[in-house]
Amino acid sequence: MEKGKGNTLDGPAIQRIRNDFPIFKKVINGQSLVYFDNGATVQKPLQVIQAIENYYYQSNANIHRGVHTLSREATELYETARNTVAAHFNVANPQQCVFTSGTTEGINLIAGGLSKAILRSGDEIILTAYEHHSNILPWQLHAQERGLKLKVIPLKSDQSLDIAAAMTLFTDRTKVLAVAHVSNTLGLITDLQALFKIAQQYNVITVVDGAQSSPHMPVNLPELDPDFFVCSAHKMYGPTGIGLLYMKEKWLTELPLFKTGGGTIKTVTFEHTEYAEGALRFEPGTPHISGAVGFAAAIDYMNSIDMSAIYKHESELVRYAQTRLLELPEVEVYGQSEHKAGVISFNVKGAHPFDVGTLLDKYGIAVRTGHHCTQPLMQLLGVQGTVRASFAIYNTLEEVEYFIEKLKRVITLVS
Ligand SMILES: Cc1ncc(COP(=O)(O)O)c(C=O)c1O
Repeated sequence: MEKGKGNTLDGPAIQRIRNDFPIFKKVINGQSLVYFDNGATVQKPLQVIQAIENYYYQSNANIHRGVHTLSREATELYETARNTVAAHFNVANPQQCVFTSGTTEGINLIAGGLSKAILRSGDEIILTAYEHHSNILPWQLHAQERGLKLKVIPLKSDQSLDIAAAMTLFTDRTKVLAVAHVSNTLGLITDLQALFKIAQQYNVITVVDGAQSSPHMPVNLPELDPDFFVCSAHKMYGPTGIGLLYMKEKWLTELPLFKTGGGTIKTVTFEHTEYAEGALRFEPGTPHISGAVGFAAAIDYMNSIDMSAIYKHESELVRYAQTRLLELPEVEVYGQSEHKAGVISFNVKGAHPFDVGTLLDKYGIAVRTGHHCTQPLMQLLGVQGTVRASFAIYNTLEEVEYFIEKLKRVITLVS
């Protein structure tokens, strides 16, 4: 629909896409908004905003167990949204797709569930050096409580993940490999195939934090074949407060419950509860119904463009931004790989990232500055923080050009 030739997006196609996003009418500090903070959250197209609005105008009711028309309508919308999410990730059984409040909650449900009954004192969990705090803290919390050990796959001197070193970390006590599919700070794409190959030899449970892959590239879950995969709708053009926890079918019955309550059951007595089967077992309380509707609309939106085209366009932006940044001797770029998705991190040598970000904002350019919830990575890089430019489908090469031009001015101010 919005495609250019093949799965390449041309300038007019991107312009049509930009027109879907009302926020781009906004003027920031007298300038057109250049939004490069997509790693934190992306802007929302009208199609998503309207789907949520329509839900509240037309269909709002609590779901499941309602006999009245509106409740059945809302239930239908909620379960259809689950089907849409499942189909997007090529999951045949939508029950394997649990709605959560986002990536962070998904990881908490996995870590909490596994540590309740499956993990034993002395068991090991392997993470990468570039994990987001959301994929460190839940494991750390349970590690402390249950006597588990966290191990970290280091980075090589070129700041890519050291797969050879990873091989030496696995032992018979390794029970979980929990890794970011794409680093939210460096943009590096994790070689999951290589890691999963080792994990398989040791019969290790695999958890993929897909918060930064799901917005930028096609993800085929059966092909990838993790035990668990989590992501957040708000990074995928959908609303905040909703996300996906995918699990392999066996975990629907084998993952111990970490959160429970109304909506998750078949029968309850004061002595015993028989739980519902499938996704509902993991969705206590009234869920984020309008969020699920918006999530599905966001997925439809991304698919109307095509995930491969999104990946191609954003890779071009990253490559171009990286090339231009590397031309500036005052700039240091972290994780200098061609194999990146949507994200680039850098510093102006000798300048605080906050100062760089604040000055760029004066030109209407929104970047994120700081540790990006990856403090252990910052310690490894030996910096307090970085400036992160992260791209989405509506960003253009002209915006990258404008950003480089203004960054040059900023450099003269901070140097
Ligand atoms: C790689 C990664 N993991 C986890 C999260 C947490 O996502 P959320 O805040 O939507 O739960 C983020 C958010 O920035 C992220 O980039």
